[in-house]
Amino acid sequence: DPASKGDFEHYMLKEIYEQPELIRSLTQYYFQGEGKESLEEATKLPMKAVNISACGTAFYAGLVIKDYIESKNRVRCFADIASEFRYRNPILDKEELAMFISQSGETADTLAAQSMCKEKGLKSLSIVNTEGSTLYRDCDVNLMIRAGVEIGVASTKAFTQQVLTGKTLSEVLAHGGIDDELRNTLASRYSLLAERVEQLLDNTKPIKDVADAIYKHKGFFYTGRGAYFPIAMEGALKLKEIAYVHAEGYASGELKHGPIALIDEEKVNVALVGEELFEKTVSNIQEIKARKGLIVSIGPKNRYELKEVSDHYIELDFEGLGDLAPLYVNVVNQLLAYYIAKNLGTDIDKPRNLAKSVTVE
Ligand code: G6P
Repeated sequence: DPASKGDFEHYMLKEIYEQPELIRSLTQYYFQGEGKESLEEATKLPMKAVNISACGTAFYAGLVIKDYIESKNRVRCFADIASEFRYRNPILDKEELAMFISQSGETADTLAAQSMCKEKGLKSLSIVNTEGSTLYRDCDVNLMIRAGVEIGVASTKAFTQQVLTGKTLSEVLAHGGIDDELRNTLASRYSLLAERVEQLLDNTKPIKDVADAIYKHKGFFYTGRGAYFPIAMEGALKLKEIAYVHAEGYASGELKHGPIALIDEEKVNVALVGEELFEKTVSNIQEIKARKGLIVSIGPKNRYELKEVSDHYIELDFEGLGDLAPLYVNVVNQLLAYYIAKNLGTDIDKPRNLAKSVTVE
């Protein structure tokens, strides 16, 4: 029952725990179920370039999707915050695609960005959770993320499903169509992600312990490279939203260009570390460590270099996950923000000053 918290203390936690099952259900829907037709239609849309607009968490999902589309499909992809995109007079042409990402399908700025693109003659594709929403009705093709009702104001499962829906589209485009071979490949890759997330959810103690150790700190810098950079921004957003503490997401290599001036023993660097550019990322962490920042690293397990440099090291099994690993790390961030907020006693499901859906400019 989506309206009940069940055994969970908060909707947010319940929604975090729904993720493995949702991750697993996506290939069935797109390869054998109702979603197949819209996925096929999506592949036929003009795509000389892709212009993504969205707000908040959906925007960060857009940045991860941009990374997938550019690296896998070699199609130029732009990602904008909808409230900027609609007013900056973007250069657009009819052979390009306009893509909109939204949980609610009712965010005012995202809707305005869509109607601007429509006026300029572009076809619109949504990646959306709410069937029948304004965005859903206004777009030419809709890819449903199938996350179910999301009640917690801080978006969790919708992010994961948005990214995976974009990933599915990118894979179908690269493969040249929808067939059993691709379904099997994606079904097993998504299942592996679901399995790892499940293992994480079965034992959250290491994350809780870190939250207990750091929740009184005065500022958090989440850092990452590549697809981990948007994950860093999303992780920082989760913490700001529900724990009301200052947090920023930064590209790992950028901290030294200013923010490092803020680092002292009261600040935390939550370092998201992928297999890619591992050595460089570790050396970025060392720069923060040298300024007495507290280091929480989230990265591949059994890495001596990470153990050495970290005050807390959340070890993950990345084996076989490839470019889905950032989604796995994102679930750690969701839990970390949740447990920090719980320690601080905030109103997790209805944080102050925030609305689930922002229907005004
Ligand atoms: C609000 C919510 C965020 C959400 C954003 C975009 O600010 O609090 O959690 O990411 O709107 O919402 P949408 O429904 O368009 O994804």
